[in-house]
Amino acid sequence: MAKKIEGKNGQTIIVPVEKRSALLPMLQKVQEKKGYISDKDMQEIADRLRIHPVEVYSVVTFYSFLNAEKKGKHIIRVSNCMPNELAGSHRIINAFEKALKIKCSETTKDGKVTLEMTGCIGMCDKAPAVMVDDLLVGNVTPKTVSEIVKCFKSGKKLEVKNTSDKIKRDGPIVFSPIGPYEGLKKAVELGRSEVLDVVRGSNLKGRGGAGFPVGVKWNLTATASSDKKFVVCNADEGEPGTFKDKVLLEEYLPLVLEGMVIAGFAVGSDTGFLYLRGEYKCMVPHIEKTLAKFRSAGMLGRNIIGQGRF
Ligand code: FES
Repeated sequence: MAKKIEGKNGQTIIVPVEKRSALLPMLQKVQEKKGYISDKDMQEIADRLRIHPVEVYSVVTFYSFLNAEKKGKHIIRVSNCMPNELAGSHRIINAFEKALKIKCSETTKDGKVTLEMTGCIGMCDKAPAVMVDDLLVGNVTPKTVSEIVKCFKSGKKLEVKNTSDKIKRDGPIVFSPIGPYEGLKKAVELGRSEVLDVVRGSNLKGRGGAGFPVGVKWNLTATASSDKKFVVCNADEGEPGTFKDKVLLEEYLPLVLEGMVIAGFAVGSDTGFLYLRGEYKCMVPHIEKTLAKFRSAGMLGRNIIGQGRF
């Protein structure tokens, strides 16, 4: 993208302009490299994007995974949402404070560890839970606390074995005997309009809180006059007690992806986004591996089941 500006002598100069949508990725890069985003970094980014530094500052201070100040090399975040609080998160905070010899919101003298409290990390089912850098650790006890601190001291990699989810109730989709890609193959066999009819007739509802009928949403998108349509899977969640998206991504990711591809086929979209919250960053390798499997099976990419892109 380029922009025309007037030069000192009145001449027109064409300069490349980075889009303001580059703001977040740029901030994430600096955060990853330095561990925080200094005032100087914010000014530089603002200059590059030709926006006011206040806008950059407001983004940095809005997101809890971007820091305007230097923190420890490792960050321990103890969830203090209501279910975690009831499960004893205050005891876990105390145990960390004792083991690290700091108070909550402080950093150890050697700059190695910062201890913080945070809200939802999607681990209500495994409370009390903490986030150690990008790792989610559930069912934390004072013993787990000393193991985590020991790992930091010795430089050993922290191994996490989270217990399996507690969702056991049978259902027509999640525990159904339908094999991999069968739904997608069936959808292609039925054809686009038939799929839209089936979904509309099923009364399937969205799980985002409003319970919006999925069939209505898909039909509106399919008939919208636009050259480009998108399938967006919003895997963000943060309401008290909510961890369903996390369980679905961890345990049933192929079903989630297959659903997205079917939606793409039905509404005429060839681009999908899976919106993942920062707390679920540790799932990225699992998601990428599963996407690669879909691609090599011909269920994602340029020629899905011989139907081309959709
Ligand atoms: S972890 Fe408890 S509200 Fe999400």
